[in-house]
Amino acid sequence: MLIGVHPRESAAIFSLCMTLQRRDSSAAQSQIPTGEWISQEANETFSLGQHVGALLIGGEILLLSGPLGAGKTVFVKGIAAALGLDPAEVTSPTFTLVNPYSGRLTLYHIDLYRLDEGASAAHAVDLDELLLDERAVLVIEWAERLGRYPLPGSVWRIVISGDGDYPRSISIRPYENDRQQEII
Ligand SMILES: Nc1ncnc2c1ncn2[C@@H]1O[C@H](COP(=O)(O)OP(=O)(O)OP(=O)(O)O)[C@@H](O)[C@H]1O
Ligand SMILES: [Mg+2]
Repeated sequence: MLIGVHPRESAAIFSLCMTLQRRDSSAAQSQIPTGEWISQEANETFSLGQHVGALLIGGEILLLSGPLGAGKTVFVKGIAAALGLDPAEVTSPTFTLVNPYSGRLTLYHIDLYRLDEGASAAHAVDLDELLLDERAVLVIEWAERLGRYPLPGSVWRIVISGDGDYPRSISIRPYENDRQQEII
């Protein structure tokens, strides 16, 4: 029971609770693989993204970290392909901050590189609004800019190490395990 809350606020809180509940329940079903991969070339990173993309059910948040040129966008292109989208259309949303794509699920491709760290980064991309989209997957490049911003539900941390002509090391872990830590 909600006491002392305006009906409109109450409806908004109920809607948010339902969203959190839905995102929590999708966490239980998610089959995203965890572990560490070595990628020798871009198409291997693309394939891993494709593999992850095929397992998405909606409601996931994927936090991508790694230096400039690591292959974050290549990974997102793989996800996009698995969702039935044209990977060639997926580019880092450097100026728009958020690129939405409509495929098997809605993909919101977010890039926080240009933003200062903290809640302002989340607000700049209307993160809370995007989280209300039930059919959406949020993939966030430079996710460390979110700092300790609280995230609901099925959250995964994907860290790509390496750049240039070197092989990449790609780690995928559920974020629940280190929710108290900063997103790095
Ligand atoms: N193993 C690899 N995995 C991914 N990309 C690779 C690999 N080897 C070489 N590359 C090249 O590295 C570049 C990665 O670019 P990409 O735009 O995906 O990086 P990014 O992490 O999104 O960078 P930014 O932070 O600038 O958005 C591409 O040109 C790609 O061809
Ligand atoms: Mg990028």
